Amino acid sequence: MKRRLQIAIDGTAGVGKTTIGQMLANMLACPYLDTGAMYRAVALLTLRTGTNPSNIAELERLSQNLNFEARDVTPQEAVDGRQYTVLVDGEDVSQAIRDPQVESIVSQIAAISEVRVALVQKQREMAERAGTIIMIGRDIASVVLPNAELKIFLDASPEVRAMRRNRQAGSGEEQARQNLEQRDKLDSQRAVSPLVVAPGAIVIDTDNLNPQQVLERIKAEIAKILD
Ligand code: DC
Repeated sequence: MKRRLQIAIDGTAGVGKTTIGQMLANMLACPYLDTGAMYRAVALLTLRTGTNPSNIAELERLSQNLNFEARDVTPQEAVDGRQYTVLVDGEDVSQAIRDPQVESIVSQIAAISEVRVALVQKQREMAERAGTIIMIGRDIASVVLPNAELKIFLDASPEVRAMRRNRQAGSGEEQARQNLEQRDKLDSQRAVSPLVVAPGAIVIDTDNLNPQQVLERIKAEIAKILD
């Protein structure tokens, strides 16, 4: 039987988790799940249904009923620069979940314990079905998959992350740095499942590494496990 390999990738905002996760998933030919997209999907539904973000019972219901699917992009979809396609109730919301309005409430939504419990359950079910999976987020190694065979924590200085983001989006670098630092603060200081380096996680500082070099580091860790 093929050996199960769960790889948890956590890290700060804009550090390149999605890029690395996708490269790894291609290499291992296995599914990958960016859990941030699920929190974004709940934030989008919150806005669309006009739900007050302080209405916990309703947010819990939205999270429990979330019909979420992520899949590879088709060549036609790839033109808008998306890294994967997200469907909610069968609707393509890949762009909508990146909307500034979604961005402005998603950290607040992600701090609600009832939302997290519902989404973590779905994430574990997906991992169970997949067997081998790359899962990306903030609490994957600490909460979602504490028994993952490999736990990676990616980090880079705010300046380097802002510079990379600026290259991607073409927005002001100083503004980008401030946004990233604000998001890190919210993610790290919240009471429920804050962003932490989980015990046993391998920390990779990517300040001076390109994606290929990060991938090589991770490949070396995988080789040790499969040895
Ligand atoms: O990685 P991202 O920017 O798409 O994440 C969106 C938000 O969701 C961000 O506030 C961090 C939060 N998040 C989280 O709390 N736990 C996860 N496992 C993934 C994302």
